[in-house]
Amino acid sequence: MNVEEKLIPIYYLGQRYDVPAGLTIMTALEWLGYVYTHGCGCRGGACGACSTMYRVGGDYKLHAGLACQTMVVPGMTLVQIPYYPRPVTKYSIDEKITDPSQVLLRLFPAIQKCVGCGACARACPQNLRPIDYVAAALRGQWQAAADLSFDCLMCGLCAARCTGELVPHSIAMFVRRYYAKLVRIKPQYLVDRSNEIKSGKFVPGVKQLATTSLEELRRLYDARSFENVDGNKH
Ligand code: SF4
Ligand code: SF4
Ligand code: FES
Repeated sequence: MNVEEKLIPIYYLGQRYDVPAGLTIMTALEWLGYVYTHGCGCRGGACGACSTMYRVGGDYKLHAGLACQTMVVPGMTLVQIPYYPRPVTKYSIDEKITDPSQVLLRLFPAIQKCVGCGACARACPQNLRPIDYVAAALRGQWQAAADLSFDCLMCGLCAARCTGELVPHSIAMFVRRYYAKLVRIKPQYLVDRSNEIKSGKFVPGVKQLATTSLEELRRLYDARSFENVDGNKH
């Protein structure tokens, strides 16, 4: 079977193109000759840069996905959303935050407009439920909100679909920063290592590495020890 027999129609920027079946949206557009200068990052479903909206055939449903992960299907009409507008919200996470719930409401007043529609959950390519982490944040359940949003890619698709005009991923970022810095108990090995770095313990070693030959660096790299999250070496 030659390549022409496997071509399927897709619609991009209002125009029909025939592209090989079996490609992702991203590779199909590149096959057509489009060059990504933005709206593309890791190509592995990890960075959230390639948010895409699409419909298929006669289906009314509006789908959301990542261009680097979503396969083209016949009759797909799509547009990539390289950037979702969200307010630049500056804040510091420090001990001055005595009432995080009040800070949350001041920084993200739209959070009170969540109507519980669940459109965000249907849009998320990570199968997260912003509706749930937003609710947890509103209840001051910081660990739950941080856990529920941990896999967020910051792609913005939930915000693009949000009925209440929230920017859920910005809320999630605040929650995780607050939780990680001021709530979660830090592992002692991490505290110890941080203090060692601040004391300059590793400066001589780094200076020595800077003058080490590539061959010796490779040998040292292969012989290095690993440290798992419990602080045990193996
Ligand atoms: S929670 Fe929102 S920004 Fe995060 S991955 Fe899901 S859709 Fe993207
Ligand atoms: S889409 Fe917006 S309004 Fe609807 S549940 Fe999600 S966060 Fe709330
Ligand atoms: S390019 Fe990074 S998620 Fe698609």
